[in-house]
Amino acid sequence: MCGIIGYTGQMDALKVLLNGLEQLEYRGYDSAGVALLSSGHDRLLIKKAGPVATLKESCAELKVESHCGIGHTRWATHGGVNDINAHPHIAGRVTLIHNGIIENYHNLIERFGFQDSLVSETDTEVAARLFDYYYEGNPREAIKKTIRELTGAYAFCIMFEDIPDEIFCIRNVSPMVAAHIEGSSFVASDVTALIPYTNRYFVIPEYELVILKKDDIILEDLDGNRKEPEFLEVSWNLEAAKKNGFPHYMLKEIHEQPEALRNTILPRLENGLPDFTEDRIPDSLFSGCDKIAIVACGTAMYAGMVGKALMEPLLKIPVSVNIASEYRYESPLVDERTLVIVISQSGETIDTLAALRLSKELGAKVLSIVNVKGSTIARESDHVFYTHAGPEIAVASTKAYMVQLASLYLIACRMAMARGVYQETDAAAFVSRLLEAVPAVEKILAKKDRIKTAASILAKAQDAFFVGRGLDYAFSLEGSLKLKEISYIHAEAYAAGELKHGTIALIEKQTPVIAVATQDHIYGKTLSNVREVRARGAFVILITKKDAEVPEDICDIHFAIPASSDQFTVFPVAVILQLLAYYTSDMKGLNVDKPRNLAKSVTVE
Ligand code: AGP
Repeated sequence: MCGIIGYTGQMDALKVLLNGLEQLEYRGYDSAGVALLSSGHDRLLIKKAGPVATLKESCAELKVESHCGIGHTRWATHGGVNDINAHPHIAGRVTLIHNGIIENYHNLIERFGFQDSLVSETDTEVAARLFDYYYEGNPREAIKKTIRELTGAYAFCIMFEDIPDEIFCIRNVSPMVAAHIEGSSFVASDVTALIPYTNRYFVIPEYELVILKKDDIILEDLDGNRKEPEFLEVSWNLEAAKKNGFPHYMLKEIHEQPEALRNTILPRLENGLPDFTEDRIPDSLFSGCDKIAIVACGTAMYAGMVGKALMEPLLKIPVSVNIASEYRYESPLVDERTLVIVISQSGETIDTLAALRLSKELGAKVLSIVNVKGSTIARESDHVFYTHAGPEIAVASTKAYMVQLASLYLIACRMAMARGVYQETDAAAFVSRLLEAVPAVEKILAKKDRIKTAASILAKAQDAFFVGRGLDYAFSLEGSLKLKEISYIHAEAYAAGELKHGTIALIEKQTPVIAVATQDHIYGKTLSNVREVRARGAFVILITKKDAEVPEDICDIHFAIPASSDQFTVFPVAVILQLLAYYTSDMKGLNVDKPRNLAKSVTVE
């Protein structure tokens, strides 16, 4: 995710842009820039790595009078975090800012021979070059021809050097809204940046062109037919706008999971198969190892548990999951034949970083799965598989966990191909099942209110138990962490078959037990364990596949996830468990986004 803003009109454009970028910084904050282009003045570009405050300092000395410009705050996906890769990008007569991912930018570089003209590592500059390549004085034609060549998601703001005071906007998938008041027109990633000026805006329809002018805002289809925007009004305050109208960042981020999954998976698919060319991850990394060690903390470590449960039976090599704070003080059995996979949303967790460094000392190759571009763990890894969840603000990790899972699934599939376990047909089938995770997640989100009833029961509890077998046990570990870290209920996850070996002594009347039973081959066994706790008075919340046979009276509340093969149930199950924790915490009136005692990134030991 990135934050984009454009303005043209009678106000001081630089001031409007900088203020807007400050409001949009929650969308991305590793670098920022502005470009100004108003009549009577030369085009001006200022862009800097670092937060918007750094850009503001660079602009403080500027004595410019400008009434038209675009601004961008970046969440890096392609290319490192530095001044050159920051937006806006200039290519000939075109100045461009972009939110999204151009999946075929490598192909465009080859086809149009841009190699020698590129100065940055970004997909955005390639798009800017293409707009300039097609621009012969008619912006509409240039835009039409360019987007015909693009694959991926984009929200573009474009300025043409010989058309000052006007901004051209077009999008698909990535969000962009626009507004007009007397003497001013605005465009932005979302309404947050517009609220200081107006609460009346419209969503730019996909593949339609918006032209911002001082005294008008034009909406056209690509054939040049003018259309009437569908204006909306928002009554949010600024804080609510940053949460896109959700009451908490956590709920907003739970809802961003389908987009995060698409943004993480799709750029790694070529003809329906996993392809890590752009990530510069060679197959030799996967074929040359005889075991895998996954190292992480907290939720990232629990994602690793799912990865283990998926990879070990598939690849038939030992896969260990290691708590980073333990691993770094042990003598792990790791050597040059070990592939160490480090997982970290922030890329700054000190224990995980230390575990990475120890692994390299022991001769292992390190592949990290990281969400924050250019973070320390990313920089020190041999190879990085970036997730594209966008900034995760809530302390409780949700969308980052979801895309960590998707990354592990893609890596497992590519590894199976590299090791001859999968033929292309197997891999294609695996990928198509992985892509079904997106609609499955959307289905759970569409029925989220049903989860509130279960949360109301949990909200009264002191203790709660999560049980499952196999992959379901791995899912349960994360579910219990989510619940305890934001609702402060003492929750534990147990392998369902383990209850009889002590824990069942804790079950009494109305003790909540969340049973995850989505694995066909052990479904009956898990139900037996559910009967055992039920017999002792537990309040059972049961999660199964839609087509599962659920005996009468086996549970108090039943959630069904869309039918899928056993390996892929984690995605909808994760959303149910996230929402269960979220609603429980909210019903207890707790600070969902900033739970007590916790920090978003644990950079101290
Ligand atoms: C997740 O809900 C927690 N906030 C925490 O367990 C987190 O996953 C852990 O601290 C690891 O953080 P990282 O992914 O940034 O390394």
